[in-house]
Amino acid sequence: MIMRALVVYESMYGNTREIAGNIADGLRADYEVTLVPVASATVELVAGADLLVTGAPTHMHGLSSVVTRRMAARAAAKDGSGLRLDPYAGGPGLSEWLKGLGRRGGLAAAFDTRINGVAAITGRASRPIARLLKRHGYRLAAAPQSFLVSWDTTPLDGEADRARRWGMTIAAASKTYLPAHV
Ligand SMILES: Cc1cc2nc3c(=O)[nH]c(=O)nc-3n(C[C@H](O)[C@H](O)[C@H](O)COP(=O)(O)O)c2cc1C
Repeated sequence: MIMRALVVYESMYGNTREIAGNIADGLRADYEVTLVPVASATVELVAGADLLVTGAPTHMHGLSSVVTRRMAARAAAKDGSGLRLDPYAGGPGLSEWLKGLGRRGGLAAAFDTRINGVAAITGRASRPIARLLKRHGYRLAAAPQSFLVSWDTTPLDGEADRARRWGMTIAAASKTYLPAHV
């Protein structure tokens, strides 16, 4: 039986998209994977997934809002910023998407990208993502996970590999929960 995973990401500068792609690669050990930005994450895709993995950048210690996404776009537009907006940067945020998800149930996992530092200081979006997933009836297959970027907003060395391995870990852990694997 084919098991399906849906990976939904929000990304302004591409870091979370890249990490989401690495996680998707790890999940492919056990799942058929669909990787989409929030704007393309339809109700049908969610309904057809045995496992939902969602991630977003950390903005102002938590999930992004219209205001912080606007700030991110303005920062990218400044001369010499070196930042490039992701093709889907203008789309809806994960927070709005999750709030509109309705009661679901099933298996899920949450991740974020954030600045390299102590989580108590930087905050981490994976926490509110996990909370929203649970509020919609999802059970978490793994603890929320952060992937780290430098102050100039590029992923730290080794984070792509760690994301791949995390995908494999979730895939393995989910076998405990999904009856089709028993
Ligand atoms: C408006 C804004 C607010 C941010 N706030 C935080 C923060 O509170 N904590 C943190 O660790 N990183 C913060 N960051 C950094 C981003 O989380 C980080 O660069 C992330 O990897 C960007 O992901 P993306 O490339 O997918 O947009 C912020 C970035 C922006 C643009």
